Amino acid sequence: MNPKTPAASKTVLTDLVLPSDTNPLGNLFGGELLSRMDRAACIAAERHAGNVVVTASVNHVHFSKPVPLGSVLTLEAKVSRSFSTSIEVFIDVWIEPRGSSELREKANEAIYTFVAVDGKGKPTAVPPVQPETDLEKARYDAALRRRQLSLILAKKLLPEDATELRALFDH
Ligand SMILES: CC(C)(COP(=O)(O)OP(=O)(O)OC[C@H]1O[C@@H](n2cnc3c(N)ncnc32)[C@H](O)[C@@H]1OP(=O)(O)O)[C@@H](O)C(=O)NCCC(=O)NCCS
Repeated sequence: MNPKTPAASKTVLTDLVLPSDTNPLGNLFGGELLSRMDRAACIAAERHAGNVVVTASVNHVHFSKPVPLGSVLTLEAKVSRSFSTSIEVFIDVWIEPRGSSELREKANEAIYTFVAVDGKGKPTAVPPVQPETDLEKARYDAALRRRQLSLILAKKLLPEDATELRALFDH
């Protein structure tokens, strides 16, 4: 299969934070953000795979800033790396007050893993990723370690076989 760039899968979702999306403190409810990120990331993964994908794991979520009611929320999802049938997607989240796009700031980021499946739910092959920018290359390189950690936690990989992950702690 021919490689695809992260840019080819880029998916941007922009929407408002409404009262029904918030917690009692008047900020975006975490589960609502997880759902929006899953949708954006799923579309990016399917653009890369050219196939249906299912969410296999949520590898990392960092809620670094609360998102106030009325904010304009923008999610940008891009594939960072693929393996045989699995695809890692990075989601960067920005907020801006309504009518003030110059005040846009990064609020969150997350990493999801999807698996491409056929009509019977069987994992199916996906194209490799060709990173272009420095950030895409850094995310591509680190994806192998994140995959190993995720597979250890899912009891699908023995810690002693996670060579690249173990190398981080051997210095
Ligand atoms: C995800 C799923 C397709 C994996 O199927 P499986 O039969 O366990 O397949 P395998 O163990 O052969 O793994 C297939 C791929 O998934 C990856 N994978 C499986 N579990 C993973 C995890 N926890 N983290 C990261 N990758 C994972 C494997 O590494 C493999 O990737 P590769 O082919 O690129 O090497 C299957 O578990 C499934 O359908 N889960 C339910 C998905 C779902 O319903 N999601 C929505 C939840 S609400």
